[in-house]
Amino acid sequence: MLEIVELCAAYGEAQVLDRVSMRVAEGEIVALLGRNGMGKTSLVRSVMGLGSPRMTGGRVSMDGADLAGLRSHQIAARRIGYVPQGRRLFASLTVLEHLQMLDRKRDGAWTIPRVFDAFPRLAERQSHRGNQLSGGERQMLAIGRALMTGPRVLLMDEPTEGLAPVTVSLVEDILVTLRKEGLGILLVEQNLYSALAVADRVVIFETGRVVWEGDAKMLSADQETLQRYLGIH
Ligand SMILES: Nc1ncnc2c1ncn2[C@@H]1O[C@H](COP(=O)(O)OP(=O)(O)O)[C@@H](O)[C@H]1O
Ligand SMILES: [Mg+2]
Repeated sequence: MLEIVELCAAYGEAQVLDRVSMRVAEGEIVALLGRNGMGKTSLVRSVMGLGSPRMTGGRVSMDGADLAGLRSHQIAARRIGYVPQGRRLFASLTVLEHLQMLDRKRDGAWTIPRVFDAFPRLAERQSHRGNQLSGGERQMLAIGRALMTGPRVLLMDEPTEGLAPVTVSLVEDILVTLRKEGLGILLVEQNLYSALAVADRVVIFETGRVVWEGDAKMLSADQETLQRYLGIH
């Protein structure tokens, strides 16, 4: 489904990604791990065609069709969903208005009732504005919004960052449900345990390069890799 081949990218003259290759298949969760500043956000931004960083080489394709030169809304229209890090929302729009904006009733897209069913807290807060929401509520809304675009592949940049443990498990349950429904998910995580709880495969970045990839189960048993690239003892 989503295929990234030898992708290179740079901020100005500074190279940030160096020949990164990975793929995300249907019904698969791939976790992208690595310490802060290693290029994880830069990778998802490159795939989404956001312009910064600038892609300087390689190829990204969806079902074999090259995404080169497409703008981010055209990439989204290829059913690639994106949950950005830091949960950008509109301060003055309510929860419900954020969802209504995306209510396109497209095949496979989530509806507002389904979002409220998955995240009951959002239903309770539906008339609150973006700037009145807690970190966890903002994150749930960002995920709900991405699902309403009906993605087949979902790129999630640290979806559990700053969430209370109970909300982390809610997000994990949703990821598992989405996988069952055949979505492919690229999950950028700082939280190793959350990543290992749901991921099928893991890719580890160091300074913009893939330095390890393999089964999530293999990684949990590999103390040396955990320590070397993730600083976990
Ligand atoms: N807008 C930017 N302009 C210049 N450099 C950036 C920009 N955003 C990130 N970087 C640099 O690119 C590198 C990778 O950052 P990032 O992709 O955000 O890493 P991660 O998501 O893994 O923490 C870091 O060295 C960071 O300082
Ligand atoms: Mg990041």
